[in-house]
Amino acid sequence: MKILCLLFMLSIVYDYTKCANIMAIIPSPFYSHQATFRPLWRELAKRGHKITLMTTDPMEWNENITQINNSFFHEIYEKHELKKLMVGGHSIFEMFNKLFEASDELIKTMVTNDEFVNILKNEKKFDLIISEIMNPMLPVLYSKLKCPFIEVYSMDAPPYLHALIGNAMHPAIYAFPIFDFQSKLFFTDRLINTLFVSVFHVSKEIIFSPFKQFVAKYTGEDFPSVFDTEKNVSLIFNSANPVFYSMRPVTPITINIGGGLHLTDPKRLPKDLQTYLDGAKHGCIYFSFGSNVNSNFLSPEATEIFRKTFEELAPIKVLWKFENDTMPLKPKNLELKKWLPQQDVLRHPNVKVFITQGGLQSMEEAIDSAVPMLGMPFYGDQINNVKKMVEKDFGLMLDVKTMDSTSLKNSILELLNNPKYKKNIDRLSAISKDEPMRPLEKAVWWTEYLLRHKTTEHLRVLQQTYHFISISFLIF
Ligand SMILES: *[C@@H]1O[C@H](CO)[C@@H](O)[C@H](O)[C@H]1NC(C)=O
Ligand SMILES: *[C@@H]1O[C@H](CO)[C@@H](O)[C@H](O)[C@H]1NC(C)=O
Ligand SMILES: *[C@@H]1O[C@H](CO)[C@@H](O)[C@H](O)[C@H]1NC(C)=O
Ligand SMILES: *[C@@H]1O[C@H](CO)[C@@H](O)[C@H](O)[C@H]1NC(C)=O
Repeated sequence: MKILCLLFMLSIVYDYTKCANIMAIIPSPFYSHQATFRPLWRELAKRGHKITLMTTDPMEWNENITQINNSFFHEIYEKHELKKLMVGGHSIFEMFNKLFEASDELIKTMVTNDEFVNILKNEKKFDLIISEIMNPMLPVLYSKLKCPFIEVYSMDAPPYLHALIGNAMHPAIYAFPIFDFQSKLFFTDRLINTLFVSVFHVSKEIIFSPFKQFVAKYTGEDFPSVFDTEKNVSLIFNSANPVFYSMRPVTPITINIGGGLHLTDPKRLPKDLQTYLDGAKHGCIYFSFGSNVNSNFLSPEATEIFRKTFEELAPIKVLWKFENDTMPLKPKNLELKKWLPQQDVLRHPNVKVFITQGGLQSMEEAIDSAVPMLGMPFYGDQINNVKKMVEKDFGLMLDVKTMDSTSLKNSILELLNNPKYKKNIDRLSAISKDEPMRPLEKAVWWTEYLLRHKTTEHLRVLQQTYHFISISFLIF
């Protein structure tokens, strides 16, 4: 009888978890931000949850995922040149001006989207919201849908969010991810970081108040700020891979899914690629600048340096994700492709070096397959990531703007011929795979935990850590 009771209760839990309605929203129009979480949507869908996904890059069709196509975000970013802004060379006022202009338009298009309006009218009940952090729509969804929310991020969360939930964020120890400091901060790094974090903290409400105003303008209602809303977050899925970020003490609602949530199971390569890589008896260099920085970012001079150097490296083969099908004077040992199944290419044993812009997801894929890297960073966290590969000795760094054929060739040959890089990345790869639960299992388990209990109040720490901001950075 007891067992029957237990089975009955279990089946209720099981059934309840089965039928959850989840509103998922990732507003950043960056392919990597979107793609990181696709395995989570697929897995939740497979377990019977119904997901409404607002995304800038719709994924393949799935019977349990209703997608709201937000792809016009790319055009708005393009129109206001936001991606170019990140490369630098603009004043802070110019940056904020453009950001606000774009945000006005972004928020307007989102709030006036019919499908979104229907959701807000609460025609459908939701059990959970999963949102990217700092999402101006979060307060609207949270106020209207009245259900708990999880915040996710494809990098380490910014210090303010760590502080908000009681995680360690001392600015003398934990650098803001945009800074390209070494793991151990020097005095000037600590000073810059502390000033930056303090200014951000003091002015965050002011800096982000236009978002609140835009939302009010288009909805006709006054919603709480993003920061006030974020204080009520139930769980944070943070992508803090220990290879790239300094580990910090965190409270139980911070779930680290860093290390390759987006990694897929190995798939067979297309036949032509398989043949090409199998035939690379002297090894193959795989070259891709990812989805945001593509080869159109390269000057004709840089393209020519690559072409010439690759030609000189024969019989070593090169596989280049290049936006053009053809190239004048393309050497025989070079293969160009507009799109490549990157994870499976990196898994091929003949791929010996990966030339990358240093995007987090690309680097995690290469670490998983243990391929040493030549990093050529462009913007954002890329510089920081590439510096980590140099610091941990599994890769080298080269600046596209200053490289020449000799430095490029020497770097590639060093990576091919000096065994230390492969040895180091083999070790990191083994560590990153040795976990009680893979990041995806962890994310799914915690999502369903929240669905079962509807709150994580019992796991919260009643402490905010901003009071640590003090001149104590001096004493380190
Ligand atoms: C959708 O959910 C059902 C259960 O409700 C499940 O049987 C099916 O496999 C799911 N489909 C996908 C594509 O995950
Ligand atoms: C999303 O919208 C864009 C432009 O509005 C369109 O080109 C694209 O095909 C749409 N994607 C899907 C999957 O509907
Ligand atoms: C956060 O949650 C508390 C308790 O449920 C609620 O009173 C408060 O209004 C919420 N804050 C915001 C900004 O929604
Ligand atoms: C691609 O080809 C077109 C036409 O030949 C050319 O204008 C463009 O500069 C090429 N892009 C790159 C990255 O080489």
